[in-house]
Amino acid sequence: MERTQKYIQENRERFLAELFDLLRIPSVSADPAYRADVRRAAVAVKEALLRAGADSAALFETGGHPVVFGEKSVDPSLPTVLIYGHYDVQPADPVDLWETPPFEPVVKQTEIHPEGAIFARGSCDDKGQFFMHVKAVEAMIAAGELPCNVKFMIEGEEEVGSDNLGKFLKEHKDKLGADIILVSDTGIIANDIPSITVGLRGLSYMEVEVTGPNRDLHSGLYGGGVPNPLNILCDMISSLKDKDGRITIPGFYDDVLELSTEERADMARAPFNEANFKESIGISDVAGEKGYTSQERIAIRPTLDVNGIWGGYIGEGAKTVIPSKGCAKISMRLVPSQEPEKISRLFDEHFRRIAPASVKVKVTYHHGGQAAVTPTDSSAYSAASRAMEKTFGKKPVPVRSGGSIPIIALFEQELGLKTVLMGFGLDSDAIHSPNEHYGLFNFYRGIETIPWFFQFLAGK
Ligand code: BES
Ligand code: MN
Ligand code: MN
Repeated sequence: MERTQKYIQENRERFLAELFDLLRIPSVSADPAYRADVRRAAVAVKEALLRAGADSAALFETGGHPVVFGEKSVDPSLPTVLIYGHYDVQPADPVDLWETPPFEPVVKQTEIHPEGAIFARGSCDDKGQFFMHVKAVEAMIAAGELPCNVKFMIEGEEEVGSDNLGKFLKEHKDKLGADIILVSDTGIIANDIPSITVGLRGLSYMEVEVTGPNRDLHSGLYGGGVPNPLNILCDMISSLKDKDGRITIPGFYDDVLELSTEERADMARAPFNEANFKESIGISDVAGEKGYTSQERIAIRPTLDVNGIWGGYIGEGAKTVIPSKGCAKISMRLVPSQEPEKISRLFDEHFRRIAPASVKVKVTYHHGGQAAVTPTDSSAYSAASRAMEKTFGKKPVPVRSGGSIPIIALFEQELGLKTVLMGFGLDSDAIHSPNEHYGLFNFYRGIETIPWFFQFLAGK
């Protein structure tokens, strides 16, 4: 891998400039106004794969945004790595909280990234991360040192739930054959504490609408004698958890896999500093389910959170009104064995059951996805572990993450393939938030680590 590493060092600046070009495309999958930009990003990824030396790369249409698929075959007797990533990004809102425009990438220093970080929407999630693979593969091809066959599947709907991807997997099973799936869309504990993600939570995402009177009312003329849907919505939401922080929906915990004492003790060994955790996000105390540590609450326990709530008057000044409607978006993070469809149904039934007779309730299902656990006793995991040990000088710690990547469970169900989640982001990189960034250290360390994964996987 010497020539590969040399190629990487010699082309560092160009790699960064190319990533910047990709980051300038506002590929926001959630907003139809960006449809053409999303496609433009897909075309840019296809071209990047071809320039990197792929034998072929093309756009595949789905019911939504296209999937980019490309491959480079070396020898059918060698293992095949399928690299998954997503070129779509979250909306940049609230745009006025960005210090520099979200789609005009710049490198700025931060306390955690003294060598500089790339500020742009998608820099860490996930353009900056899947692009490391494109460049690592380019380097291996250019150096004549690619030790495995490689396939790329870079999708454009991860941030909106990958709804069309199940069908894509079913229809293209033959094309997607591989030995292992490799993904960089997660993080490490810190730049001096490498880790490999070995679990992801699932997700059920709901929207509720509570309707009272048939129009907004004068709160003096009617107030006190009619149902206020916002008050009622708040009551209903607060009843969804008890005083111990447990979710009250009947059946919610039925399928939750409890971890053994041993597994919990293992988890507790991963470095975690609660004081830093609180300070980094400006909270004076943590909160959550009784009987579990912060690490457990954010990784191995299911949750229920309001993501947004609206209704009534929220403009300047005061308007005296009893709103006709109150609405909320509510997500539940799920753990292994909890079925998103079942949980969504339990939520729906319960939420309609607890509504007082004075209001009407509508519950809508948004996207969901299953939790995933990835093995640590596989040759692919040990290839990732050895690769990180090689570049970080420290053996990575296996950790479960609280985030979700719905496609990971589908890969196993539809293709029977396991995944290695070798991501390089940091929790502090502000993904989905204003001022998202990705460390230059992380970007380059990722590009340097990936070839070692290939090498170790090939048994070299
Ligand atoms: N890359 C993230 C998930 C992630 C980030 C996992 C960091 C672990 C560590 C992914 O793009 C994401 O944001 N997923 C969504 C789910 C999706 C259905 C919108 C999430 O977790 O909210
Ligand atoms: Mn992502
Ligand atoms: Mn994301």
